[in-house]
Amino acid sequence: MNILGIETSCDETAAAVVRDGAEILSNVVVSQIDIFAEYGGVIPEVAARSHLEAMMPVIDKALKDASCSWDDIDAVAVTFAPGLLGSLLIGTLTARTLAILQKKPLYAVHHLKSHVYANWLDSHESENTPLRNAPSGPSLQASVASQSHRRRLCSSDEYLSDSSTPSFPLLALVVSGGHTQILYMAGHNQFKIVGTTRDDAVGECFDKVAKILGLPYPGGPSIASAASDGDAEKYKFPHPKVEGLDFSFSGLKTAVLRTVQKEVGVPISYPSHKLAELLTPRQITDFAASFQKTAVDILCEKVETALGEHPDTKSVVVAGGVSANKLLREEAEKHFSAYSVFFPTPSLSGDNGAMVAAACYYEIQTGIKPVDPFKLNIYPRISIEN
Ligand code: KG4
Ligand code: ZN
Repeated sequence: MNILGIETSCDETAAAVVRDGAEILSNVVVSQIDIFAEYGGVIPEVAARSHLEAMMPVIDKALKDASCSWDDIDAVAVTFAPGLLGSLLIGTLTARTLAILQKKPLYAVHHLKSHVYANWLDSHESENTPLRNAPSGPSLQASVASQSHRRRLCSSDEYLSDSSTPSFPLLALVVSGGHTQILYMAGHNQFKIVGTTRDDAVGECFDKVAKILGLPYPGGPSIASAASDGDAEKYKFPHPKVEGLDFSFSGLKTAVLRTVQKEVGVPISYPSHKLAELLTPRQITDFAASFQKTAVDILCEKVETALGEHPDTKSVVVAGGVSANKLLREEAEKHFSAYSVFFPTPSLSGDNGAMVAAACYYEIQTGIKPVDPFKLNIYPRISIEN
């Protein structure tokens, strides 16, 4: 079964063709990072407009890279929630129109489900998929990454190719720019939220701390890169006291802000966007490393507690943009060595169409029916349990 997956929930315009939920025939991602780096964050109206320009060239390229015509496509899958309203609208309207015109069943996929199912995508390389071709459409300040990927079971840079998939029951740690959740999965397409953030998502916290330190958007990769030269023990930040399996990250962001203010000797009323110019390069790298370590420790501690409460767990799956973080990969491998630990290949940690197609495949396997393409709605916020 060949599924065309379409993803536009935030600032990536993406489409992919995936066979049987695992084999990536093509994977095209146009990122708007270059546009939003100038603003230090995503501007929803600009994101929607960029999706509109990139959407059809991206889909055309995904079909071409996969050497597929519409006759070869069995279903269309699209992210319908959660995400930015305007961004979701462009992807879903495109998918609805194509499903109607091409007479294909349409499936609506929850974004966090897709992130989790990035861990089922496998290692076959497509001969037809060239690396980094420019889009033949709008002149976006963006890059098209057409990549083939491997599912990997290891945390370091040297990812091992592994043919196995996660075993149920499993715990999934979903860490992205908008979400931080621990999910319990008894089987395919069965999601129970056992922990969630009460305020900021961990990715959002990386992005906000990066801003304080004067590091470029998106904050996650820039913090990780600055941290590699820093001393992670230099500054101590308290862990939030949140009962149970829930998270809180807004206190950590404030703790970094206050410590930076103290370090450079300014009052708490001092504008946060002017702090970076008072910091030395050494201080920036030490703050980045100390913050990153604290955030990763908080995540691992909670998953450890969750594992204690769910003794039948066989695998730990990490997903979402922050799962690209190298320290998180290393620490998770260390902490959860008694389990099989899965991460998507780093380029599949962020938003892409392949994970949407993979999630859709398992929805179909578990009996989920297609949606009415004339009626599909979008939801900026909706639980994965619905
Ligand atoms: O899943 P994603 O691409 O989009 C959402 O669904 O939100 O996640 C984006 C988030 C951003 O906050 C970004 O800073 C973070 O993932 N991120 C990272 C890394 N790469 C991306 N955070 C920490 N370390 C990284 N290497
Ligand atoms: Zn995402």
